[in-house]
Amino acid sequence: MFFVDLVSHLIYGQPISGETGLSRGNYTPIPQPPTIPLLRNALQIDKKLPYESFRLLHRQYGEIYLLELPGSRVVFLNSHRLTLEALDENTFHKAITGGLLELRGLVGDALFTAHHGEHNWEIAHRILTPAFSPANIKGMFGDMFDIASQLVLKWERYGPEHIIIPAEDFTRLAFDTVALCTMGYRVNSFYNDAVQPFIVSMADYLLEAQRRATIPSVVKALSSTAKWDADRALMNEIVSKGGEALITFMIAGHETTSGMLTFITYELLKSPASYAKVREEVDRVLQGKPIQPEHLSKLPYIVAVMREALRLHPPAPVIAVTPYEDTILCGEYLVPKGTIVVPQIARIQRDPAVWGEDAEKFKPERMLDGKFEDLPPKAWIPFGNGARACIGRPFAWQEAIIALATLFQRFDFVMADERYNLTLKQTLTIKPDNFHIRAIPRDNAPPLVIGATSAPKPSINVGEAAPAALSNEEMEKKVPMAVLYGSNTGSSEAFAQRIASAAASNGFNARIATLDAATGHLPTIGPTVIITASFEGEPADNAGRFVQDLTTMNDTPLEGVSYAVFGCGNRDWALTYQRIPKLIDEKMEAAGAKRLLERGEGDAAGAEFFDSFDAWEVKLWETLSTIYHTTSTNRPTEEELVVKLYGTGMERAISLRQPDAALGKVVENRILTSNAEQEKRHIEFELPENMTYNAGDYLAILPTNPPASVRRVFARYKLSEEAMITINASGATTLPTGRPVELKQVLSGYVELSQPASKRNLETLIEAADEA
Ligand code: HEM
Ligand SMILES: Cc1cc2nc3c(=O)[nH]c(=O)nc-3n(C[C@H](O)[C@H](O)[C@H](O)COP(=O)(O)O)c2cc1C
Repeated sequence: MFFVDLVSHLIYGQPISGETGLSRGNYTPIPQPPTIPLLRNALQIDKKLPYESFRLLHRQYGEIYLLELPGSRVVFLNSHRLTLEALDENTFHKAITGGLLELRGLVGDALFTAHHGEHNWEIAHRILTPAFSPANIKGMFGDMFDIASQLVLKWERYGPEHIIIPAEDFTRLAFDTVALCTMGYRVNSFYNDAVQPFIVSMADYLLEAQRRATIPSVVKALSSTAKWDADRALMNEIVSKGGEALITFMIAGHETTSGMLTFITYELLKSPASYAKVREEVDRVLQGKPIQPEHLSKLPYIVAVMREALRLHPPAPVIAVTPYEDTILCGEYLVPKGTIVVPQIARIQRDPAVWGEDAEKFKPERMLDGKFEDLPPKAWIPFGNGARACIGRPFAWQEAIIALATLFQRFDFVMADERYNLTLKQTLTIKPDNFHIRAIPRDNAPPLVIGATSAPKPSINVGEAAPAALSNEEMEKKVPMAVLYGSNTGSSEAFAQRIASAAASNGFNARIATLDAATGHLPTIGPTVIITASFEGEPADNAGRFVQDLTTMNDTPLEGVSYAVFGCGNRDWALTYQRIPKLIDEKMEAAGAKRLLERGEGDAAGAEFFDSFDAWEVKLWETLSTIYHTTSTNRPTEEELVVKLYGTGMERAISLRQPDAALGKVVENRILTSNAEQEKRHIEFELPENMTYNAGDYLAILPTNPPASVRRVFARYKLSEEAMITINASGATTLPTGRPVELKQVLSGYVELSQPASKRNLETLIEAADEA
């Protein structure tokens, strides 16, 4: 027995017999299933579906149990009350263990696999979170709709009898969406029946990561790694265009989103009443047209369905934490430093103490009418916890709403096998297994207008404060103003930038800085305008010191400071919505500062995010001009650009002597062929006003040369793509004459580049070459 214990110690790194720390003293011992020599509890876990083993262990042992697994002792939590304490970031922090530890071989220390406190996490976090700012996410609407449309086209093409594996097609959807939206890279998975090699390798790699997590290191060391290494090499090669960030987003973002969409489809097909409500909502809100950005906030039932599906089936079913010091959970269970603690998200989100006796039932209504907002803290955690929570949440949210609304608008779904009951498949994340459906196109489904629904680019720009077009002396006469922001993903910063840019024309001389930079020296002359956000109820990375300083202030050290606060937030974070802007607004007043204007707020989940800011900004300048007696000039600053449109857009047609041409509108444009064939498209035009078309009439299109041909000319003649030219002609010509034009414009639209050069052309070239 001594030998067995010694070997176990070498494998597991901790003593495993005798009185363990977990049952010391007067604390309640944590139940543990019987162990076997060497492997201890490793055989308790099904390698293919650990999720199911954990579910059964919960039934047997209750809200907490302990397993001895390779490399660590793991305490599993299944109740909300215990989890609430384990997710307190003052006492616990994220632990990298099991499958995530194995994944470090692929994605290194980037984001979700980074150990607590690892410096590279901070760097990656700072670089990657802005990709998911509200403005960026809104700007991705068109691309997300584009990929959802490709899925619709595929299902339409296959017809109502075709058996669909939703998990596979949703994986294609999520995969293509992440690649297109984050890296501008088109994977085109829908034009290929075979599953992308990257997806196959990733699924195998994740499965192996899960298997390796449950075997002792000696066994691992003896296993062959050839396939594991080959999968990693293939993935690295494929994403070499996007780099490690792309691999991180791919792994974190595609299986999870696809799992969510597949679970939603399953639950809706099992719940006809909810299905009918989704269909009714989509038809009522979209009114037979393709989804538009403004619809996103008008589909509360779909949102409730998403929340409820994520409650019952969190695709990433576990997170792991560990205490900084020996900790007692709920005054009962001792958890020594170094122990891995794993809240089982699916079990916690079904805890009857929070969700009632029908917790196992799919009931979207429990997420409606303020009930989601009233949930206790940490009761709904499918996106993880605290500082290490999911940064892709708003991305996945928008993507899923677009996909669900578009699909339910256009299809009726049925299960391929009506008797199917949920079984699961696990590759670190979980999703339905062997679940097949059919998609029957609905009558009168609206046409898909690909690309016509791109969200307008947000009206704000990020960048340095634009100096107003005024001299230094003029600026010095203006009232000084501090514009401070706390921002991770850029929206508060962009709003602050806008105020700073508009300041000069409103009579102020603005200085812009982060809240942290202003800690301890808020100005007492002139107004201070603060624009800030919250993240999991905490300040943005560049506002932490400021908030800390403010919350520990005594007396009234901010007397003389005048301020106004605007908060950026998102109501999906119901419990901590606008927490930091509210806190700053209240604490500044308590510390003696004078509030100039009621706090404003923008909800990034709503359609009015930018409008709320616009309205608040109008009030801000009105209030400030009354208090500081400033007047506004109409001198344009960078933000107040004056744009004038010249011409009718028909100049090229006229120059090319096509007087009958008119601007037409493409209303439908879809690819009919698969990847293998030469591309063929179905294109529909709306005829321009006053134009008719009869069978047999010709349709001429004013073409442009392919960009690649134009680039070849620039390269061949060593010209800059930025070059401008003026053409003067002695006789009639179809070229644009007498005004500076971009050479690129001429080469693209006024000359024919694809026909072979004539003898005459060659002679002209020779003459020109001689001259040179
Ligand atoms: C329904 C969809 C999604 C779910 C349920 C989900 C869930 C989660 C969970 C539970 C975590 C925390 C993991 C842990 O603590 O170990 C996490 C982290 C993360 N997620 Fe998501 N996720 C989803 C979509 C996405 C998307 C679309 C992306 C990116 C495109 C993404 C990127 C990330 C990243 C980078 C992290 C690591 C954050 C950090 O450690 O700083 N996720 N996600
Ligand atoms: C991971 C994460 C956590 C968030 N937590 C909160 C929150 O607790 N309360 C809130 O009102 N908004 C929350 N939001 C929404 C952001 O505050 C909102 O998107 C805001 O516009 C971001 O501002 P910024 O772009 O200036 O960083 C969160 C967003 C993310 C991505």
